[in-house]
Amino acid sequence: MAKEMDKIVALCKRRGFIFQSSEIYGGLNGFWDYGPLGVELKRNVKEAWWKDMITRHDELSVLEGAPSSFSMTGLDCSIIMHPQVWKVSGHYDLFHDFMVDCKECKSRFRVDHVTVAVRRVTGDKKPVACETFIVDAETGTGLSKTQSKRLDQAVGQYKKEFGDDIECEQVTMSLDEYLHEAPLGGPAAGCPKCRGELTPPREFNLMFKTTVGAMAGEEGTAFLRPETAQGIFMNFKNVVDSGRVKVPFGIAQIGKSFRNEITPRNYTFRSREFEQMEMEFFCHPDDSRKWYEYWRDRRYEWYVKYGLAGDRLILRDHTPEELAHYAVGTADIEYAYPFLSDGEYGELEGVAHRADFDLRSHMEGKLVLDENQELVVEQNEHGQPKYRGSGKDLRYFDDQARERFVPHVIEPAAGADRATLAFLCEAYQEDEQPDEKGKMQTRVYMKFHPQLAPIKVAVFPLIKKDGMPETAAALYRDLKQAGIACTFDQQAAIGRRYRRQDEIGTPWCITVDGQTAEDNTVTLRDRDSLEQSRIPLADVVAEISARLNA
Ligand code: GAP
Repeated sequence: MAKEMDKIVALCKRRGFIFQSSEIYGGLNGFWDYGPLGVELKRNVKEAWWKDMITRHDELSVLEGAPSSFSMTGLDCSIIMHPQVWKVSGHYDLFHDFMVDCKECKSRFRVDHVTVAVRRVTGDKKPVACETFIVDAETGTGLSKTQSKRLDQAVGQYKKEFGDDIECEQVTMSLDEYLHEAPLGGPAAGCPKCRGELTPPREFNLMFKTTVGAMAGEEGTAFLRPETAQGIFMNFKNVVDSGRVKVPFGIAQIGKSFRNEITPRNYTFRSREFEQMEMEFFCHPDDSRKWYEYWRDRRYEWYVKYGLAGDRLILRDHTPEELAHYAVGTADIEYAYPFLSDGEYGELEGVAHRADFDLRSHMEGKLVLDENQELVVEQNEHGQPKYRGSGKDLRYFDDQARERFVPHVIEPAAGADRATLAFLCEAYQEDEQPDEKGKMQTRVYMKFHPQLAPIKVAVFPLIKKDGMPETAAALYRDLKQAGIACTFDQQAAIGRRYRRQDEIGTPWCITVDGQTAEDNTVTLRDRDSLEQSRIPLADVVAEISARLNA
């Protein structure tokens, strides 16, 4: 079934899931609002994550696959923090993207990959010429259709010209590498859209600046956090000192983050204001690999449990070359969003082994790699630390082993908006069903996991008489009292009412009809199977609760 993005976007607007921010003024690029149903869906996504991390976490047992038992706790940190946090974390110097503009068609691109067709002389292997394509980061790492065609033509041309004396290959490199390797020669990269001349790449820091207090200028400058993680590192010592946590333990946080993305695009996928669900897990360095593997697999399974499955969800381990030298592993959980080309995946969540990098930086000062690939405090031109750490001792003391150490950190970092978007895309379904007159019609339904569905149950009186509205209203109130999100609808023919609920993903509909007065039963209709069964009116609340907790 084609899952075209424009159908999903139209449904989200029509039924009140997602709206453009400040739409009546023409909108603001990279900012989105969640409507009446969207806010419930996103709250349910965050709640499912929080329950898994905190509420339902059993710290007395060793969970399946975990190396030992562990405790979990939550935090809610401020969005604006001391500016030194971002200097020491590296965001102030390094959190940038490269952008290029096309001088002709005026398009702007965020670039992180360049694809080069390299001609090598057989034997010598020295590159002699190339055909270069900048890759618009928003379309993934692949070339556009036009670029691929051009590449094939170029490779074909080389082969024809040089036959067996030449090998051709396609190399994808980061922009940094490309800038170094530029002496490869050959035609400069052209605009991915029109092949026009591009401006040289410019760096652009992604942190939003703001001013704290009345102080203008550098002294009052602060930043909106670009990730929630740093607030957790800031409070590591507070949590250890105030709580009963013992390593290993995790601190989870859900909150807004802000990035001044160069090209916000693909609906809510890359926004300038978004929500993250991040957890920092502190463990002994000797156990960090096992914990990394545990969290990587557990986080993947979480998405599967809530309905992302099959070949649209992948777990991609970073190659050794992609890893920071101190990390034993990083994996991305990726989803084949419908706006990407075939075979492309977009990041839902990154699970990273961060070793002791963050806690050490906030003790000692901003760290960099030296020539021996060791992390050392970066110096300024006067031989002083470039950005000083807090000087506070962030080591952990294990009073049983009588050992003091800087814990290693495993970080599963997810996006609440990207997860919500993936669940929306995955849920969108179409099938053919007969309408009231028996004519086949396309039915659109959102196949949300019941725990994520904004509304769990809809209650209908079949007709507006014979006591049916009163009985249905009483049932609706009972469901509300039990904390089950439900709705009441007595407008239009029953078939249309079912379709309306299908389109917003309500898993079950209950109809009070003529038989209810006779035997106190109601019809329970299932969104996915369309099966209708009769259950006692008195059992509805218990039945729906049981299904929701299944
Ligand atoms: N603390 C690590 C960190 O922030 P990240 O990969 O930059 O890592 C984590 O971000 C997650 O946050 C991503 O996997 C994605 O789900 C979400 N995210 C990042 N930038 C985003 C953006 N501009 N719009 C929406 N979600 C974003």
